[in-house]
Amino acid sequence: MTSVFTRRQFARAGATAGLTALLPRGLFSAPTTNRHALIRAEDEIGLVRPEFHSHFAEHLGSCVYGGIWVGPKSPIENVEGYRKAAVDYLKELGVPALRWPGGCYADDYHWREGIGPAARRPKRVNIHWGNYVEDNSFGTHEFIRFCRLISAEPYFAANVGSGSPREMRDWIEYCNFPSGSALADERAANGSPEPFRVKYWGVGNELWGCGGNFRPDGAGAEFRRFASYARTFGDIKPYLIGCGPGGNDSRWTRGFMDAVAGSRLPDGYSLHYYENGADPPLDFTPAAAMEQLLVFGRMEQAIIEQRALLDGYERGRGIGLFLDEWGVWDRIPKKDQDRYGALWQQSTMRSAVAAGLGLNIFNRQADKLYMCNIAQMVNVLQSVLLTDGPEGKNCVRTTTYYAFMLFKPHRGKTAVPVDGGSGIPMGHAFSGPPEYLIEHEYQPPMPELSISASRSASELVVSLVNPRAGKDFEVECALRGVKAKRGRAQILHAFDLNACNSFDHPDRVTIQPQEVAVEPDRMRIMLPAMSVATVTLDVE
Ligand code: AHR
Repeated sequence: MTSVFTRRQFARAGATAGLTALLPRGLFSAPTTNRHALIRAEDEIGLVRPEFHSHFAEHLGSCVYGGIWVGPKSPIENVEGYRKAAVDYLKELGVPALRWPGGCYADDYHWREGIGPAARRPKRVNIHWGNYVEDNSFGTHEFIRFCRLISAEPYFAANVGSGSPREMRDWIEYCNFPSGSALADERAANGSPEPFRVKYWGVGNELWGCGGNFRPDGAGAEFRRFASYARTFGDIKPYLIGCGPGGNDSRWTRGFMDAVAGSRLPDGYSLHYYENGADPPLDFTPAAAMEQLLVFGRMEQAIIEQRALLDGYERGRGIGLFLDEWGVWDRIPKKDQDRYGALWQQSTMRSAVAAGLGLNIFNRQADKLYMCNIAQMVNVLQSVLLTDGPEGKNCVRTTTYYAFMLFKPHRGKTAVPVDGGSGIPMGHAFSGPPEYLIEHEYQPPMPELSISASRSASELVVSLVNPRAGKDFEVECALRGVKAKRGRAQILHAFDLNACNSFDHPDRVTIQPQEVAVEPDRMRIMLPAMSVATVTLDVE
């Protein structure tokens, strides 16, 4: 909502009852707490790459089969076999890149089984996610077509654990070589004469675990071997992503990097960081929510420290840091998984706050990151869309979807530093010389108000997250380096941290307009407990 306050109104609001006096009282639960921040718009952190808002889709539960893909003969409304509602919602959200087919599944996936006439493709047991049988009807061509439909850059995770360098090499040739080789001609015969021109290639997934139980030096050696054959076919040089740690494991990164040093280095390096939760998604206590949200401080620490580790290697600065899998992983009830598929998890207001904390971190650490993929796209873990099982016709946009929507205006802008908000200099709380702490030794501070900002020549975008159940904030941000002319704000909010968008109430938690008071050198906004808001200021 656009709301320009005159200087007198603004000053009166600040000096007397606060901005609360100008806003509908019903929105706030308790007496508000004032917070102050400084947005240093003249300083630069780095580009907010659209890829920070990327996604991950694995053959797991009902993410791909039944979520994205229902097949062309399905009674569910579809576009060439893709669930139409999912395509429409994802197009609206914008998906910069999409990682596929796993996850753990990637290291048991053999791409040749997913090409050619669907009826002749072999049925395979998904050993990682419940031993159910997949018919391979969603393969390379179907994935690429889906990426084209939603304008996402495809990102393949190749099989290292049970695959071979030849298998990966051939997959790249099949996808990228224009014509004239047996593999390129096979692709054409399968309906795609134009090369797919796939840039991103992951070299295995979680090689320390489901990807083959390697040790770091062994994983590094595998990278060297696979990279030798992962060549440029056609005009696209494959951007190879090496397998990094789960969490902030410095020993893994040192072992891996020592093993690849002196050889072809990975172009990217992947880190996985989940925020586990002790409670079922719909029954979080405020204490359990706080404990889960606290983990984001550790994730930020991991980004800073893993970046510093890579930077310490010769040519290491050129390696892009990928947060390949991130998001909340709650204690999911068995009944939900039995009904809707493995790891089917509802998203609540708490999950949206978690998404906001993560996306704020990516802005603050924009100079250290290359791509971040929320896990996962549909139905699994912290998804942006939920369907009521593979056969279900319903498709709802989760609270996480709306949190991502609120951050969309940051894409392509330059992140700028924000000081303050909670007494801790936001964005600087974890910097300083990295000590390579073992993870459990690091106790992040209680999640408080979290703010990030980015700017272009004409706009300053500020995102604010209030993660405190039962605590409302009135936030004043002083602006340095720009003059604000006018502003508009949107908010996602529910006092009930377990509020969600269900199939019965699909629009319970959606984005609403919010008042913002704007002066040339400051803005002020109310942030009720458990909320995510974005303010867009027109600036000069
Ligand atoms: O996202 C679910 C699983 O989490 C993935 O398959 C794996 O990579 C990670 O452990």
